[in-house]
Amino acid sequence: MPTAPLLVEAFSQKHIPEMLDWFSNLEALVQWGGPGLSFPLEAAQLEAMLAETTAVEPARSMFAGLVDGKLAGHAQVALDWQNGVGRLSRVAINPRMRGRGLARPFLREVTERFFADPAFERLELNVYTFNEAAIRTYRSLGFREEGVRRSSAKVGDVRWDTAIYGLLRNECN
Ligand SMILES: CC(C)(COP(=O)(O)OP(=O)(O)OC[C@H]1O[C@@H](n2cnc3c(N)ncnc32)[C@H](O)[C@@H]1OP(=O)(O)O)[C@@H](O)C(=O)NCCC(=O)NCCS
Repeated sequence: MPTAPLLVEAFSQKHIPEMLDWFSNLEALVQWGGPGLSFPLEAAQLEAMLAETTAVEPARSMFAGLVDGKLAGHAQVALDWQNGVGRLSRVAINPRMRGRGLARPFLREVTERFFADPAFERLELNVYTFNEAAIRTYRSLGFREEGVRRSSAKVGDVRWDTAIYGLLRNECN
């Protein structure tokens, strides 16, 4: 269990250096961020995501979870304002802090902040079907599996299945 409380704030430029060594190979990077990223993770990739957080109706929200002042978690929500839908993505717990039960409280706070805006009714996500720790966390928050996109991601020479999960405003645990 965590020894200090987890605090959530907006992810910003100052958090970037702490995150750059979280993904040690292409597979780990894709598991976190999807097949569109290039390995290794570099500041410029995170800065391009941050650039999408600044509009009045931004395309993206980014969150940092902090324990004892250290970066413990990262998550993003891509925002579809027209349909009132967010896509939770790029969720990670600092590899040095995994297995301590931080994912659920971190994502509970992210989910509550997302639904605090009455513009949004649905939060969805994509997760590779082998990712047990992530799936257990999402299910515990009330996300329901809605389908599987078989063989949908190509990572090196292998292909991964992607499950789609969704959570409606009135389904949060
Ligand atoms: C997915 C992730 C955020 C979960 O955080 P974590 O600190 O490892 O997990 P927690 O300690 O909070 O545990 C969450 C749940 O997963 C289970 N779990 C933890 N590690 C596990 C493992 N290696 N295998 C299977 N289950 C595991 C826990 O028992 C817990 O389930 P429970 O509450 O039913 O007991 C983290 O592993 C991570 O950053 N992974 C790499 C990036 C990634 O895959 N992101 C998700 C993209 S969709």
